[in-house]
Amino acid sequence: VRLVVLVSGSGTNLQALLDAIEEAGPAAYGAQIVAVGADRAAIAGLERAERAGLPTFVRAVRDHASRAEWDAALTAATAAYAPDLIVSAGFMKILGPKFLARFGGRVINTHPALLPSFPGAHGVRDALAYGAKVTGCTVHFVDEGVDTGPIIAQGVVEVLGEDDEAALHERIKEVERTLLVEVVGRLARHGYRIEGRKVRIS
Ligand code: GRF
Repeated sequence: VRLVVLVSGSGTNLQALLDAIEEAGPAAYGAQIVAVGADRAAIAGLERAERAGLPTFVRAVRDHASRAEWDAALTAATAAYAPDLIVSAGFMKILGPKFLARFGGRVINTHPALLPSFPGAHGVRDALAYGAKVTGCTVHFVDEGVDTGPIIAQGVVEVLGEDDEAALHERIKEVERTLLVEVVGRLARHGYRIEGRKVRIS
Protein backbone atom coordinates (compact mmCIF):
# COMPACT_ATOMS: atom_id res chain seq x y z
CA VAL A 1 0.00 0.00 0.00
CA ARG A 2 1.31 3.42 -1.02
CA LEU A 3 1.01 6.12 1.67
CA VAL A 4 1.21 9.88 1.34
CA VAL A 5 1.54 11.55 4.75
CA LEU A 6 0.44 15.18 5.24
CA VAL A 7 2.05 17.22 8.04
CA SER A 8 2.09 20.78 9.39
CA GLY A 9 4.40 20.58 12.37
CA SER A 10 6.84 18.49 14.30
CA GLY A 11 6.01 15.25 12.50
CA THR A 12 6.41 12.84 15.39
CA ASN A 13 3.50 10.77 14.08
CA LEU A 14 5.23 10.65 10.69
CA GLN A 15 8.42 9.57 12.45
CA ALA A 16 6.58 6.77 14.24
CA LEU A 17 5.33 5.48 10.86
CA LEU A 18 8.82 5.77 9.35
CA ASP A 19 10.33 3.86 12.27
CA ALA A 20 7.70 1.12 12.19
CA ILE A 21 8.11 0.61 8.45
CA GLU A 22 11.87 0.52 8.74
CA GLU A 23 11.75 -1.91 11.63
CA ALA A 24 9.28 -4.37 10.13
CA GLY A 25 10.16 -3.78 6.48
CA PRO A 26 7.53 -2.38 4.09
CA ALA A 27 6.34 -5.85 3.03
CA ALA A 28 5.68 -7.06 6.56
CA TYR A 29 4.20 -3.75 7.68
CA GLY A 30 2.00 -3.66 4.58
CA ALA A 31 2.73 -0.09 3.52
CA GLN A 32 5.44 2.29 2.41
CA ILE A 33 5.49 6.08 2.51
CA VAL A 34 5.92 7.37 -1.04
CA ALA A 35 5.84 11.12 -0.29
CA VAL A 36 5.25 13.66 2.47
CA GLY A 37 3.24 16.82 1.83
CA ALA A 38 2.87 19.96 3.92
CA ASP A 39 1.00 23.26 3.94
CA ARG A 40 4.07 25.19 5.01
CA ALA A 41 7.83 25.05 4.48
CA ALA A 42 10.62 24.77 7.04
CA ILE A 43 8.94 22.44 9.52
CA ALA A 44 10.48 19.52 11.38
CA GLY A 45 8.05 17.13 9.68
CA LEU A 46 9.57 17.88 6.28
CA GLU A 47 13.08 17.50 7.67
CA ARG A 48 12.19 14.06 8.96
CA ALA A 49 10.95 13.11 5.49
CA GLU A 50 14.08 14.43 3.81
CA ARG A 51 16.29 12.59 6.28
CA ALA A 52 14.44 9.41 5.34
CA GLY A 53 15.15 10.14 1.66
CA LEU A 54 11.50 10.72 0.78
CA PRO A 55 10.17 13.18 -1.79
CA THR A 56 8.31 16.13 -0.26
CA PHE A 57 5.97 18.81 -1.53
CA VAL A 58 4.65 22.04 -0.02
CA ARG A 59 1.37 23.66 -1.02
CA ALA A 60 0.71 26.72 1.14
CA VAL A 61 -2.72 28.34 1.11
CA ARG A 62 -1.18 31.80 0.87
CA ASP A 63 0.64 30.93 -2.37
CA HIS A 64 -2.72 30.42 -4.09
CA ALA A 65 -5.35 32.92 -5.20
CA SER A 66 -8.15 31.11 -3.41
CA ARG A 67 -8.84 28.18 -1.13
CA ALA A 68 -10.27 26.34 -4.17
CA GLU A 69 -7.02 26.77 -6.10
CA TRP A 70 -5.05 25.56 -3.10
CA ASP A 71 -7.36 22.52 -2.86
CA ALA A 72 -6.76 21.74 -6.55
CA ALA A 73 -3.00 22.17 -6.16
CA LEU A 74 -2.80 19.93 -3.08
CA THR A 75 -4.96 17.33 -4.84
CA ALA A 76 -2.72 17.32 -7.92
CA ALA A 77 0.50 17.18 -5.89
CA THR A 78 -0.83 14.25 -3.86
CA ALA A 79 -2.27 12.43 -6.87
CA ALA A 80 1.15 12.52 -8.55
CA TYR A 81 2.27 9.86 -6.04
CA ALA A 82 -0.73 7.59 -6.69
CA PRO A 83 -1.44 6.91 -3.01
CA ASP A 84 -3.74 4.13 -1.83
CA LEU A 85 -4.08 5.76 1.59
CA ILE A 86 -3.43 9.29 2.80
CA VAL A 87 -2.55 9.97 6.42
CA SER A 88 -3.22 13.44 7.79
CA ALA A 89 -0.80 13.38 10.74
CA GLY A 90 -0.97 16.74 12.41
CA PHE A 91 -2.01 18.43 9.15
CA MET A 92 -3.71 21.59 10.37
CA LYS A 93 -5.78 22.50 7.31
CA ILE A 94 -9.25 21.30 6.46
CA LEU A 95 -9.03 19.24 3.30
CA GLY A 96 -11.05 20.70 0.45
CA PRO A 97 -13.94 19.26 -1.61
CA LYS A 98 -11.71 18.45 -4.58
CA PHE A 99 -9.27 16.53 -2.41
CA LEU A 100 -12.09 14.52 -0.83
CA ALA A 101 -13.83 13.89 -4.17
CA ARG A 102 -10.62 12.36 -5.43
CA PHE A 103 -9.48 10.50 -2.31
CA GLY A 104 -12.66 10.13 -0.24
CA GLY A 105 -12.70 6.99 1.89
CA ARG A 106 -8.91 6.76 1.67
CA VAL A 107 -7.91 9.63 3.97
CA ILE A 108 -7.36 9.09 7.68
CA ASN A 109 -6.69 11.68 10.35
CA THR A 110 -5.47 11.54 13.90
CA HIS A 111 -7.07 13.87 16.43
CA PRO A 112 -5.91 14.50 20.02
CA ALA A 113 -9.26 13.98 21.77
CA LEU A 114 -11.95 11.34 22.08
CA LEU A 115 -14.31 12.33 19.26
CA PRO A 116 -17.06 13.36 19.02
CA SER A 117 -15.93 15.36 22.06
CA PHE A 118 -13.60 18.28 21.45
CA PRO A 119 -13.22 18.44 17.66
CA GLY A 120 -11.30 21.25 15.98
CA ALA A 121 -7.86 22.74 16.31
CA HIS A 122 -7.68 22.81 20.13
CA GLY A 123 -8.83 19.36 21.20
CA VAL A 124 -6.38 19.12 24.09
CA ARG A 125 -6.97 22.64 25.44
CA ASP A 126 -10.74 22.26 25.14
CA ALA A 127 -10.84 18.94 27.04
CA LEU A 128 -8.71 20.45 29.80
CA ALA A 129 -10.80 23.62 30.02
CA TYR A 130 -13.99 21.56 30.17
CA GLY A 131 -12.67 19.59 33.11
CA ALA A 132 -12.76 16.19 31.40
CA LYS A 133 -11.16 13.47 33.54
CA VAL A 134 -10.28 11.25 30.59
CA THR A 135 -9.40 12.23 27.05
CA GLY A 136 -7.23 10.62 24.40
CA CYS A 137 -6.91 10.34 20.67
CA THR A 138 -8.99 9.22 17.72
CA VAL A 139 -7.94 7.84 14.36
CA HIS A 140 -10.77 8.32 11.90
CA PHE A 141 -11.61 8.61 8.22
CA VAL A 142 -11.93 12.15 6.94
CA ASP A 143 -15.25 13.34 5.57
CA GLU A 144 -16.40 16.86 4.68
CA GLY A 145 -16.94 17.86 8.32
CA VAL A 146 -14.34 18.87 10.89
CA ASP A 147 -13.25 15.69 12.72
CA THR A 148 -16.61 14.03 12.03
CA GLY A 149 -15.74 10.99 9.88
CA PRO A 150 -16.11 7.30 10.81
CA ILE A 151 -13.97 6.33 13.80
CA ILE A 152 -11.43 3.54 13.34
CA ALA A 153 -9.79 3.42 16.77
CA GLN A 154 -9.36 5.42 19.95
CA GLY A 155 -6.90 5.50 22.82
CA VAL A 156 -7.67 6.76 26.31
CA VAL A 157 -5.47 9.04 28.41
CA GLU A 158 -6.24 10.12 31.96
CA VAL A 159 -6.18 13.84 32.74
CA LEU A 160 -4.01 14.51 35.79
CA GLY A 161 -4.64 17.26 38.32
CA GLU A 162 -1.41 19.08 37.55
CA ASP A 163 -1.76 18.83 33.74
CA ASP A 164 -1.31 21.84 31.51
CA GLU A 165 -2.01 21.67 27.78
CA ALA A 166 1.59 20.81 26.85
CA ALA A 167 1.98 18.01 29.41
CA LEU A 168 -1.37 16.46 28.54
CA HIS A 169 -0.73 16.73 24.79
CA GLU A 170 2.65 15.01 25.23
CA ARG A 171 1.02 12.00 26.96
CA ILE A 172 -1.73 11.90 24.34
CA LYS A 173 0.85 11.94 21.56
CA GLU A 174 2.59 8.88 23.01
CA VAL A 175 -0.65 6.91 22.78
CA GLU A 176 -1.50 8.51 19.43
CA ARG A 177 1.72 7.43 17.74
CA THR A 178 1.28 3.79 18.76
CA LEU A 179 -2.37 3.81 17.74
CA LEU A 180 -1.69 5.39 14.34
CA VAL A 181 1.08 2.92 13.51
CA GLU A 182 -1.16 0.03 14.49
CA VAL A 183 -4.21 1.30 12.56
CA VAL A 184 -2.37 2.16 9.35
CA GLY A 185 -0.68 -1.24 9.33
CA ARG A 186 -3.95 -3.04 9.93
CA LEU A 187 -5.80 -1.13 7.19
CA ALA A 188 -2.91 -1.71 4.79
CA ARG A 189 -2.53 -5.43 5.46
CA HIS A 190 -6.15 -6.43 5.72
CA GLY A 191 -8.11 -3.94 3.63
CA TYR A 192 -11.31 -2.34 4.90
CA ARG A 193 -14.86 -1.27 4.08
CA ILE A 194 -16.65 1.81 5.36
CA GLU A 195 -20.34 1.04 5.99
CA GLY A 196 -22.03 4.20 7.19
CA ARG A 197 -20.22 5.08 10.39
CA LYS A 198 -18.77 1.57 10.81
CA VAL A 199 -15.31 0.72 9.60
CA ARG A 200 -14.89 -3.00 8.93
CA ILE A 201 -11.34 -4.21 8.70
CA SER A 202 -11.53 -7.45 6.78
C1 GRF B 1 -1.05 15.44 17.02
O1 GRF B 1 -1.41 15.40 18.37
C2 GRF B 1 -2.25 15.60 16.14
O2 GRF B 1 -3.35 14.86 16.52
C3 GRF B 1 -2.50 17.06 16.36
O3 GRF B 1 -1.22 17.65 16.25
C4 GRF B 1 -0.27 16.71 16.70
C5 GRF B 1 0.74 16.51 15.60
O4 GRF B 1 1.94 16.10 16.09
N1 GRF B 1 -3.51 17.59 15.51
P1 GRF B 1 3.15 15.71 15.13
O5 GRF B 1 3.34 16.82 14.10
O6 GRF B 1 2.85 14.39 14.48
O7 GRF B 1 4.33 15.62 16.05
